[in-house]
Amino acid sequence: MNAPTRSFSRRLLLSRSAAVAGASSAGLLLPQIVRAQGSKVRVGFMLPYTGTYAQLGVAIENGVRMAIAEKGGKLGGREIEWFKVDDESEPSKGVENANKLVQRDKVDILIGTVHSGVQMGIQKVARDSGVLSIIPNAGVLAATRALCAPNVFRTSFSNSQPTMALGKPMMDKGLKKAVWITWKYAAGDEAFEGFKDSYTKAGGTIVKELGLPFPNVEFQALLTEIASLKPDAVACFFAGAAAAKFMKDYAAAGLQGKIPLYGSGFLTEGVLQAAGPAAEGVYSTLHYADSLDTPRNKQFRTAYAGQFKLQPDVYAVQGYDSGQLLVQGLAAVKGDMSNKAALYKALETTVIDSPRGKWSMSKAHNPVQDIYLRVVEKGDNKVLGVAAKALADSGTGCKL
Ligand code: BEZ
Repeated sequence: MNAPTRSFSRRLLLSRSAAVAGASSAGLLLPQIVRAQGSKVRVGFMLPYTGTYAQLGVAIENGVRMAIAEKGGKLGGREIEWFKVDDESEPSKGVENANKLVQRDKVDILIGTVHSGVQMGIQKVARDSGVLSIIPNAGVLAATRALCAPNVFRTSFSNSQPTMALGKPMMDKGLKKAVWITWKYAAGDEAFEGFKDSYTKAGGTIVKELGLPFPNVEFQALLTEIASLKPDAVACFFAGAAAAKFMKDYAAAGLQGKIPLYGSGFLTEGVLQAAGPAAEGVYSTLHYADSLDTPRNKQFRTAYAGQFKLQPDVYAVQGYDSGQLLVQGLAAVKGDMSNKAALYKALETTVIDSPRGKWSMSKAHNPVQDIYLRVVEKGDNKVLGVAAKALADSGTGCKL
């Protein structure tokens, strides 16, 4: 949607909302709105249920369902009809899959996804259709920068947010020369932006950038190169099942304990059991840590583990917060999603009481949140402290 179209649709929705407010106060609610409020809210999940990010998709869905179930299982007093599409983390099918939910299933709310490339497809469909879209993970910068939209809200992070906090703790340990390694797609490239900014500002030098295509896991040759470069530290972005393999291969290559490994915190999320001892001593920065010592986090972890027989991770938290956001947003308009101005206002201004700590939305609809420094100790992401307080993404280019 270009800028003139956006301001046109904004005017349109504001005038429609004003008309509805007038009709409502005069007791003349339009019949289709009465019908819409009484009918089920159609909620679609577009998430990866297969491939290296499958476990992330499941955790997000669990989190969403749990948050809504805790508040009675309805949104704004309306029952929910659920829809699901497996996006396979396949960017080339992003638009087609989003349209399965929006055009075929006629969802009112689209929740998705994990992979930044796939998110670009959702973003296009969300902007073209105006459907309310909640991003429960994918950090692609454009979604809350140049391509931001009034109907798109992110409950997770922007790709450079966690790594904006990574450079300083590395330099504090005297690690002055680092190699960066990642999957070469938006999530890795944009995580690098945050790392480069924070590490070089703190005085560090990046001696080499290494990469491989998503979702390739042939790390061996690159690890051999790292060994020969002998940097003070390695920093990286990997996530999902492949992150466990990366840490195991790192240890098997003899690098664990010799060259400290740092990461955007996804590296150690949901994979600590699979990685086993290879994850011990890995440092990372992220907007969540299992061991956050707050009643809110403890209550969430106990409830999630009891319900799903799984330990929650950051993806479960982001799903849970997506559910909380929807519960609060739809409650504010009593389930009347046609009142878009009031709905968006509620989604923009609500403070989420999250297991990660309280957070709010930036103007561009991205969380303003604390980033924690963690280290893996005895199979747990142990918090060492807050590495960045109330960190906001720049939102550059977003005109909302
Ligand atoms: C992404 O593609 O944006 C992403 C995937 C997994 C973890 C973090 C980010």
